[in-house]
Amino acid sequence: MRSRLLAFGLPAALALVAHGGPVRADPGPGPAPYLDPHLSVQDRVEDLLGRMSLDDKLGQMTQPERRYVTPAEVTRYRIGSVLSSGGSAPDPNTPQSWADMYDGLQRAALAGPLRIPIMYGVDAVHGDNNMVGATIFPHNIGLGATRDPALVRGIGAATAAEMAGTGVDWDFAPCVCVARNDRWGRTYESFGEVPELPSMMTTIIDGLQGDELGGPTSVLATAKHFVGDGGTEGGDDRGDTRLPEKELRAVHLPPFRAAVKRGVGAVMVSYSSWNGLKMHHNRYLITDVLKGELGFTGFVVSDYNGIDEIDGRPGFTKDEVAAAINAGIDMVMVPTEWRRFIDYLRDGVKDGDVPMSRIDGANRRILTKKFELGLFERPMADRSHLKTIGSAPHRKLARRAVAESQVLLKNDDVLPLDEDDKVFVAGRSADDIGMQSGGWTITWQGRPGPITPGTTILDGIREAADPDATVSYSKDGGGIDSSYDVAIAVVGETPYAEYHGDKTGDLGLDDADLKTIGRLRAAGVPVVVVLVSGRPLDIAAELPKWDALVAAWLPGTEGEGVADVLYGDADPRGRLPVTWMRSGDQEPINEGDGKKPLFPFGYGLTYDG
Ligand code: GLC
Repeated sequence: MRSRLLAFGLPAALALVAHGGPVRADPGPGPAPYLDPHLSVQDRVEDLLGRMSLDDKLGQMTQPERRYVTPAEVTRYRIGSVLSSGGSAPDPNTPQSWADMYDGLQRAALAGPLRIPIMYGVDAVHGDNNMVGATIFPHNIGLGATRDPALVRGIGAATAAEMAGTGVDWDFAPCVCVARNDRWGRTYESFGEVPELPSMMTTIIDGLQGDELGGPTSVLATAKHFVGDGGTEGGDDRGDTRLPEKELRAVHLPPFRAAVKRGVGAVMVSYSSWNGLKMHHNRYLITDVLKGELGFTGFVVSDYNGIDEIDGRPGFTKDEVAAAINAGIDMVMVPTEWRRFIDYLRDGVKDGDVPMSRIDGANRRILTKKFELGLFERPMADRSHLKTIGSAPHRKLARRAVAESQVLLKNDDVLPLDEDDKVFVAGRSADDIGMQSGGWTITWQGRPGPITPGTTILDGIREAADPDATVSYSKDGGGIDSSYDVAIAVVGETPYAEYHGDKTGDLGLDDADLKTIGRLRAAGVPVVVVLVSGRPLDIAAELPKWDALVAAWLPGTEGEGVADVLYGDADPRGRLPVTWMRSGDQEPINEGDGKKPLFPFGYGLTYDG
């Protein structure tokens, strides 16, 4: 993760007047106690806190986005953390560039008088997905279908290893949301519609953080988005979750309880509201419940410009800054207006709107994680881990996860295929890494195309088939005839992220996909539909025309895992993590609500019946 830095040559006694006020000179010889790794983290935190000026403390609570802050400003404003928002990557987007970028910012942070290292945060939500060449794992909805927490732990460890070589030490993952309405554009970021699934999959936190923070490839995990983001009316991203407290606690709180129990280092607050109150200033839930009742000892971070939305008007005010911090938010993700945030928070302290005890409390939580991560001893990227990025073992793990996530929903004696079958493959998602990876891949929204190295589903089919077998492909199905043993239509959704994926209208397949399937059916051969989507779609009316249906979800870069199931090299074992609607107007539809779905929660076929 991080390499040993040259011994601190600058004893704190030389840490002269810091920006915003003098620091306490060190009383004795040798390095200041906070620099001594043999002391307890608590002692180091208290010693450091005692040396910090108000501006040192305000800087620690501030997280700009990389495009809007320079290394010199990181030094000058004592910035505590920097993030890459979705797709915000150095140019060229290579592991080496990421490590160079991280080290440059870290050197700037260490140039401050107290030499407090930054944490650098990214959304590595299905692998280190901003970085070209990283292994991209299935999105959470597919991992929920595996019901395999040990596998998910391994994915966390592999993701952390691929991050560690670049120095990046903070992952805004896992999303432990409970997706209750499939119209929500973030349904695929959920492990499932019942709290038990995201709770079960908090093993990914152990993978990301390691047995304890500070290991060679340990990164800080973040449980998000606190709380109730998946329960909004109509599945409206950033909308209002209208529930009695008892139901909020029963459905949406348990995964956070599980995450806290696993020692998650950070929690990110949801944009959504609970019964009309924006979560970003909900003191009861953040401070009394999360920090008090659940005993969360890490730090709470806002979402991206999350404090802007508190009063429902663009931008943020001094009141919103004070409200968010007093509610219990410890670090604010304020990508561009971070100078104004610092000024408003300083005013809030000086005007008595924000007690100094809250500032110190936030700094204690943030600094504790920095010490536990080992950042004071090993602040720079440990490039020895770069070789793990996109490595064969990681891709093998991802391929296994893809296979385990496949859910066989219909099979009229068509699957598994024989290796010597004459196969016709069609569909927009058959030969497209971008389509099969979905949102949060290289860019925030994701996009079609060869966006990063991997194997498409078609590549996997070609590899699985006998070398002498015929495997033909055309995106729209043109050219098929009755000589084929089977046709495979790989269709579904075009990549999206967050509110861009909210669907208030039709949840069915689009016309291009329906036409492709129609062409295949017109040839009179059995048709297998492989659905590459971030959620169930409204396909009941079409299903009788299909001979088989596999829910592939958003598999990521290792498309072979889909072919492994199609050819029987892996038995389909996936189980639906969400109820599959019979019709879009049933949404929200969930286990136990008395509605009649097309396929119930937990459904999935195997080849041996
Ligand atoms: C986004 C998302 C959050 C992500 C953050 C940083 O808006 O809501 O999940 O971690 O911004 O990219």
